[in-house]
Amino acid sequence: MTGSCWREGEDRIGFVATHSASRDWTSAAPIQMTDLATTDKRHRMSAPLHPAAILDTAFGFWRSKVLLTAVEMGVFTALHDGRMTGIELGARLGLHPRAIADFFDSLVAMRFLNRDGDGPDARYFNTPEGALFLDEASPRYIGGILVMLNARLFRFWNDLPEALRTGRAQNESKYGQKGVFEELYSDPPRLEQFMGAMTGLSRLNFEAFAERFDFSKFRTLCDVGGATGLLSIECTRRHPHLRCVSFDLPEVEPIARKHIAAAGLSDRISTAGGDFFKDPLPRADLITMGMILHDWNLEKKMHLIRAAYDALPPGGAFVAIESLIDDARRKNVQGLMMSLNMLIEFGDAFDYTGADFRKWCGEVGFTRFEIIPLAGPSSAAVAYK
Ligand SMILES: C[S@@+](CC[C@H](N)C(=O)[O-])C[C@H]1O[C@@H](n2cnc3c(N)ncnc32)[C@H](O)[C@@H]1O
Repeated sequence: MTGSCWREGEDRIGFVATHSASRDWTSAAPIQMTDLATTDKRHRMSAPLHPAAILDTAFGFWRSKVLLTAVEMGVFTALHDGRMTGIELGARLGLHPRAIADFFDSLVAMRFLNRDGDGPDARYFNTPEGALFLDEASPRYIGGILVMLNARLFRFWNDLPEALRTGRAQNESKYGQKGVFEELYSDPPRLEQFMGAMTGLSRLNFEAFAERFDFSKFRTLCDVGGATGLLSIECTRRHPHLRCVSFDLPEVEPIARKHIAAAGLSDRISTAGGDFFKDPLPRADLITMGMILHDWNLEKKMHLIRAAYDALPPGGAFVAIESLIDDARRKNVQGLMMSLNMLIEFGDAFDYTGADFRKWCGEVGFTRFEIIPLAGPSSAAVAYK
């Protein structure tokens, strides 16, 4: 499996602080315990206190904005064909001379770009990760989520205090009447951007799910809220006996058909258009929902879990793929951030723990449960009927 992994139980701060960042602050002289009159007795015998984690996180948005901007401007795609000097790359992207060295060298220092030599003749080139995940021409491109983070969520998160005080969404729906999907889907470029973002967010999870789940007892799969059909594509590619249906809103169906055809899998993956709150789900041995339950409040979550139960045969399985929060709600930073993001996007929607999933599915009638760790902070929660 590729990508950085972190599991429940590992003590990690999150995406930003796990990169090269912490080295910067920890190189400063540590604060001596004797200087701290109010120091907790428990800490007196242990390592000196240091604000590295505080500062890393506080300044994290600078680094984030540089990386997101680089993806939006196509830095990694521009370097697809080889090495370029700063002047050449800056000219290709339309940058002001003042900005060139600082922008590209920041990316080098953060290890998102490589550089051959120093000074004006130095040439920049992609790291192996940059080439694989951030060059738009790569089949494993995940930059779509970075593009959406930059275009939408960066500014919506500026209103986090308002979301925390009011419990209301802070996105496009704040000043309009429409729900998030209605709003995004009324504008084809924004629909495409959202679909690209979902691909970027889910690709590594779906690859891991397709490799780690035991498909041997299941012949049919329905992916509910299937977006571009990516989960069906990854599972069908690896399991030749499997037939899939990718179910989503009618506006999304043509996009899914296009991606499934491009993967050469139209004979084994079909699409279905519908509304999962109004229509019954297509029947299948396996029902999957990638980042679907977290988009809704508890009442709607329960509706979807019941709909999945009704569409499955005895022995069938329901799978939710999410940044599942650890049961004690202490460790999976990204899962908790994702839940705050659901506050920003929907207001009453929220992410949840494996224990929550088990309780809700048990109430509906599922009898056996399992959690499969996927990429990074995500997991597949499985309930068997
Ligand atoms: C957060 S995205 C997840 C996409 C994909 N499953 C993934 O994990 O990458 C939610 C998906 O649910 C779909 N969706 C939203 N409301 C729906 C509804 N009422 N009926 C069917 N699909 C819906 C959206 O179109 C979108 O593709």
